[in-house]
Amino acid sequence: MPLHVTAFAPGRVNLIGEHTDYNQGLALPFAISEGVTVKATATSGRLIRAKALDLGGDDSFSVDHPRRVRGWRAFVRGAVAELTSAGVPVPPARLEIAGTVSRGAGLSSSAALEVALTLALIALSGAGGPDRTELAKLCSRIENEWAGARTGLLDQLASLYGEADHALRIDFRSLEVRPVALDLEEHQLVTLDSGQHHANAASGYNERRAECARACELLGIPSLREATPEMADQLPDPLDRRARHVLSDNVRVDQAVEALRRCDFEQLGRLLDEAHASLRDDYEISTPAVDAAVARLKAAGALGARVIGGGFGGHVLGLLAAGARPPEGAVVVQPGAGARLLE
Ligand code: GLA
Repeated sequence: MPLHVTAFAPGRVNLIGEHTDYNQGLALPFAISEGVTVKATATSGRLIRAKALDLGGDDSFSVDHPRRVRGWRAFVRGAVAELTSAGVPVPPARLEIAGTVSRGAGLSSSAALEVALTLALIALSGAGGPDRTELAKLCSRIENEWAGARTGLLDQLASLYGEADHALRIDFRSLEVRPVALDLEEHQLVTLDSGQHHANAASGYNERRAECARACELLGIPSLREATPEMADQLPDPLDRRARHVLSDNVRVDQAVEALRRCDFEQLGRLLDEAHASLRDDYEISTPAVDAAVARLKAAGALGARVIGGGFGGHVLGLLAAGARPPEGAVVVQPGAGARLLE
């Protein structure tokens, strides 16, 4: 059993396919180079002691009985509890958590935290953990059951399967993850902060998920992946629009894969714009601050720009043409490697 391990897990940017994951649809995310690092040291006794270096807070709890709390501590306790339920013999440990990905930005700092915590604790336990897809599900349970956000598997799969220079086409019905080369030539993908804090558990995220479940109930289908545009039209407002967004974004994912294959960046930009309009008008997860950030990117010459992640605030994504100057505060994002042990 190692005495000391360090794990890193990246955040992600989703190129296209938003709010499709919990509808068994398609998405095209990539891991970024920013993320969360967890240093874990085995200790004696039965306590887990955690320190969040950026937040300046700490926590201490029994490894055998993690009790429920709020905030970042919920993720640490949830990680210990969910790993234990999955049969991993989590040892007493001291954990130091540090992040380079902005929190509340829609760049998936929470999945990065879950994945880094679980990878570190599994390595420290000396036992073999679940495979990457099972680990993504376990991490998603931490978020669903401990942090109160009914999110899907997008962020965790992107963080675990990320590859340099590639996006990942994920089919959430089969859970097949296929790397897609992301060669943008002279173009750049940038994110820009809308200035509005985003938090899945506190936003309209859970409500959107419930609306999709209700739409399936009315249509008598297991998921919106089984719906057709004609079926969506029969639903009452706003469920018809929610379903329309999901169906059209699934189509846009494969159109984006094709546009990348042909290096057709004008088309990729159009798809981002269409996705934004759909998320704003049909799915209603944009806000005036988010729309303003999208408009700033467009004014700077973006071929396309859109709200990303859960929405209701956070960063937006833009595809800048070769030679276009990013607006002040924009950050270039590039696909990086997935979660791993360091050292
Ligand atoms: C958040 C969730 C994901 C996904 C996106 C929207 O990032 O954590 O599971 O639903 O929103 O695509």
